Amino acid sequence: MKLAIGNDHTAVDLKTTIKEHLEQRGVEVLDVGTNSTESYDYPISGYKVGTLVASGEVDGGVLICGTGVGISLAANKVPGVRACVCSEPYTAALSKRHNNANIVAFGARVVGDEMAKLIVDSWLDATYEGGRHQRRVDLITKIETDGSL
Ligand code: RB5
Repeated sequence: MKLAIGNDHTAVDLKTTIKEHLEQRGVEVLDVGTNSTESYDYPISGYKVGTLVASGEVDGGVLICGTGVGISLAANKVPGVRACVCSEPYTAALSKRHNNANIVAFGARVVGDEMAKLIVDSWLDATYEGGRHQRRVDLITKIETDGSL
């Protein structure tokens, strides 16, 4: 299992914490985020992780900015990406089980270290259920590819 991780200047410490947590789980982590607290534009990390996920170079991604919103919005502009902002583990699990989320995002200004670990673990441990959910995910993809339903 290989994941890409990206962040902006608000999330350097939490990115490091999550990276170490993932490595302890045996996950290989490709870090494409910033390690500086100098202001850093989150769309750059969102795009980098998004393209790595969409191309299949990694199995999934983790994105962290102040809220998780901007960086996931950027990643979701990459076709094939389904990035979900999660502030608690239930949504993180359902984002995989129902939405087949291939990126989990959260905010360093919203969640603490331990909640962030739970969010990542819940997303990683969950399995996409397919079935009726596949029709809905396919509709999302159709909007993305055709610009209409
Ligand atoms: C940076 O100040 C902040 O806007 C960014 O980290 C993120 O929260 C945007 O969605």
